[in-house]
Amino acid sequence: MADLRNNFVGIKSPNPFWLASAPPTDKAYNVERAFKAGWGGVVWKTLGEEGPPVVNVNGPRYGAIWGADRRLLGLNNIELITDRDLFTNLREMKQVKMNWPDRALIASIMVPCEEESWKAILPLVEETGADGIELNFGCPHGMSERGMGSAVGQVPEYIEMVVRWCKQYTRMPVITKLTPNITDIRKPARAAKAGGTDAVSLINTINSIVSVDLDNFAPNPTVGGKGSHGGYCGPAVKPIALNMVAEIARDPETYGLPISGIGGITTWRDAAEFLALGAGNVQVCTAAMTYGFKIVQEMISGLSDWMDEKGHRNLDDIVGRAVPNVSDWQYLNLNYIAKAKIDQDACIKCGRCYIACEDTSHQAITNMVDGVRHFEVMDEECVGCNLCVSVCPVENCITMEALPAGSLDKRTGKTVDPNYANWTTHPNNPMARQAAE
Ligand SMILES: Cc1cc2nc3c(=O)[nH]c(=O)nc-3n(C[C@H](O)[C@H](O)[C@H](O)COP(=O)(O)O)c2cc1C
Repeated sequence: MADLRNNFVGIKSPNPFWLASAPPTDKAYNVERAFKAGWGGVVWKTLGEEGPPVVNVNGPRYGAIWGADRRLLGLNNIELITDRDLFTNLREMKQVKMNWPDRALIASIMVPCEEESWKAILPLVEETGADGIELNFGCPHGMSERGMGSAVGQVPEYIEMVVRWCKQYTRMPVITKLTPNITDIRKPARAAKAGGTDAVSLINTINSIVSVDLDNFAPNPTVGGKGSHGGYCGPAVKPIALNMVAEIARDPETYGLPISGIGGITTWRDAAEFLALGAGNVQVCTAAMTYGFKIVQEMISGLSDWMDEKGHRNLDDIVGRAVPNVSDWQYLNLNYIAKAKIDQDACIKCGRCYIACEDTSHQAITNMVDGVRHFEVMDEECVGCNLCVSVCPVENCITMEALPAGSLDKRTGKTVDPNYANWTTHPNNPMARQAAE
């Protein structure tokens, strides 16, 4: 059996699946249920400083995007950090950590960007026995307008400064949670590293308006006739999160910095993809809010079965394995040539591949042959773009097939050479550089 035990910056958990800081981790009742269901760790819902608790809206807090089957694809929220009293949270955290010593319990914190505020809260958190802290520099709404959350996360100098204070005032490992609402994710990651962070976690939610109520002309969710931008998460954000994780994992300036991957993780496969792109573990929010805590059981068994099948003994065998294959565009092999192939037995003759190719791409698919509907790829026109695969409603009906080495592409007259531009030894590849040193 594959060993799923996780050691993330010295924080141990029985598996790499943590719940992200959000409503599922807002109180002991939920966290106890989560641990019973099998979650390896939790990042407690973000704590604010001592004082009157924050006040949330009492109307709808969430908006959503659904697929045609009503499956939730994207979730948008206008919630703030915890609206429970700081000391109630701290008391519950201490109790939960005592009850579940083998699980990871991380405190997420967001206080004003002043040294005194951080200095005051850190010993209180440390006293709970929490395994680490996560600095919430991510929330895009409500708190950022007050100079916290993504307002800090968008200014690398502030990140570095706050991380430095935290490293100075606590012995707990520091995980810096990054906002995706920024042009170049490497900049805040580098700043966090310069401040001495033990790890980064990403992504927090993405600024968004999920839809507009056209009867009232107001953004959803609408609270008393008005709406506000909120934070977007769930399956729809996974591609953005994966790219940001990979950008940090392959940046020579942050190479080796531990990453906790977050964003749209719903299945074991999603998690494995984050791990392969360099995440040391993963955090989940929307999937738990959509399907309940027991979803972790499928994540654990799925990851474990796949690892067994592939002969991966532990997480170290997979973490970062895809990073060397993430390349800048200019190093892609232009002499690698693939063509679409339509499985005539699987084809349902809907014609979607034809119309997409004919109207918008390369006119490389037949429609009528001898007066009969027949969809077939013409190799001399096909550029291998993959659009037909993307729009085909039948899985695996259209596949991309690489031409063998040495063969001639009928369209370009080029000879196929799959060994061109070997990224594994390219000087821009941090792993290759490290191996060479
Ligand atoms: C309702 C809601 C509340 C959230 N509150 C917090 C929070 O207090 N602190 C924080 O760091 N992230 C918060 N998040 C962001 C999540 O921790 C996570 O980064 C994000 O949802 C992406 O993961 P997912 O796609 O698995 O949901 C919240 C997300 C949701 C949906």
